[in-house]
This record gives sequence, structure tokens and C-alpha cells, in this order.
Amino acid sequence: MGTLSAVGLQANASKDFAEKLTNTQAVLKDALLTHAHITQASSLGAEDVVITHLLESLKAKLGLQAFPADVFVLNTGKLHAETLTLLAQSQATSSLAWRVFEPVQEQAIHFVKTNGELAMRESLELRKACCHIRKVEPLGRALAGYSAWMTGMRAEQSAARADVHAVDTTDAKITKYNPLVDWTWGDVLHYIVENNVPYNALHDKFYPSIGCEPCTRAVSLGEDFRAGRWWWESKDGESAKECGLHVKA
Ligand code: ADX
Ligand code: SF4
Repeated sequence: MGTLSAVGLQANASKDFAEKLTNTQAVLKDALLTHAHITQASSLGAEDVVITHLLESLKAKLGLQAFPADVFVLNTGKLHAETLTLLAQSQATSSLAWRVFEPVQEQAIHFVKTNGELAMRESLELRKACCHIRKVEPLGRALAGYSAWMTGMRAEQSAARADVHAVDTTDAKITKYNPLVDWTWGDVLHYIVENNVPYNALHDKFYPSIGCEPCTRAVSLGEDFRAGRWWWESKDGESAKECGLHVKA
């Protein structure tokens, strides 16, 4: 993780980073004290490893008898090798419980047989159908029985995410926490470097946003964070580069 890595070069805290960190810790602490069953959605991207690390620190600090939070990963069957390596490493070393959800195999196999390996590039309809089988349906199983979840969404990531809030109670059934909402990319990487948090090797290959292998590419200097996601789709189109995990209720 030397200082010459892409991550080391982009680690750059905002002036008010200390205040942001304090607020984030307060949001997480409040979430942990409010919910008996709360779960973190992790894509194993930079934001998510930061949240996991903050939760692990709070677990050590709060000394709750039953720690209410765990972590889940939607293993779509299309994740990068780098992501799977970090998943195995995290499961082996984390003080939190990890749950991994996979798509219903018959559905995934049937979809590929009918539509081909790269069907998602052919039409928005097929792309969304693939996301539904590999992400949205497993997400429902991951959230069952929980009253709250946490994500790494940040306002800076895209125009569509500009109005994300730290605590979102739009869905009466489940509260959604976005504890890094006001962090910049530089803040996220700064935290990783400062705390020596293991991170996804893809970030050093200029992938800011971690998704499925066929649907994610590296970005060039000056491109948007999410430019590498479903890059063949229009940014302002109907899909707005979202996979259905975070559509508004
Ligand atoms: S996505 O909707 O386009 O896939 P994005 O990659 O920006 O989302 O990630 C936003 C947040 O969604 C992550 O910080 C994480 O909380 C959650 N998330 C995304 N992908 C996964 C995944 N495969 N497993 C679990 N959570 C995920
Ligand atoms: Fe399928 Fe791509 Fe969606 Fe992953 S991101 S579930 S491969 S369409």
C-alpha cells in the first residue's frame, strides 16, 4: 500500500475531515444502539471497507453484549478476482460476522443459456433482468429480519445521489444509513491510508467504483466516479446507471 500507489496519491482529507469523521461515528453509534439487527451492505469497495473498519472499532469500544451489526456481500457470480480475494481475507480476519448471498443458480444459468454471457450489453431490459437475478432478489434475502441497513453511498458519486441523506427513513419497514454521505473520495482514501485498512486492489488500477466484472471498467483522469459502470448506457437515461439496489421507494 505504498505512498506511490494510486490510492496513496488520491488520499487527501478535506479541511473539515475530523468533523465529518466524528459525525459518522455518531451516526453509526446511534444506529447500533437503536437497532437489534442491522446489517452492512459491502461491495468490498473503498467506502465499504471504511464502514466495516469503523464498525469493528465501535465493536471493540462499545463492549455491547450482543453486537447488533453484521456485514453482507452479494456475490453475483460475476465479481472480479480482486474482490473475491478481499472477501476471503475479510472473512478470515474481521471481528464481525459476514454473510454471502448468491443468486438462485437455476435462474442465473437459465438467463445465460437463453440470452448469452454478455446479454447485459445488448439492452437495458436484459441488463436490468440480470441485475434483478444477481443482485436485487438476493438483496431481499439479505435484508429479511433486519430493521436497518448501511451502505457506502456518497452524495459526490453522481447527480442521482446528490440528495442522499445519512439516515433515510423513506421505507417505513427498514431504515437505511449512509454514514459516509458527505465524505469526498479523498476523505475515503485518506481514512484507508491513515488506518492501514486492507482495500480492493482494483482501486490501484483506477477503478473507483466496484461492481461486476463485465459491467465495470477503469476510468480516466477527469471522468466521473461512476463513468466505469455500465459505461455503454447513457448517463442521463432512464436507467441513470443504477442497478436497482438503491432505487427510491
Ligand atoms: S450499485 O447500485 O451501483 O451497485 P454502488 O456500487 O455504487 O451501487 O455501491 C453503493 C453501495 O451499495 C455500496 O457502498 C454497498 O453498500 C452496496 N453494494 C453495492 N454492491 C454490493 C454488493 N455486491 N454486495 C453488497 N452490497 C453492495
Ligand atoms: Fe449482471 Fe452486470 Fe448487473 Fe452484475 S452489474 S448483475 S453482471 S448486469
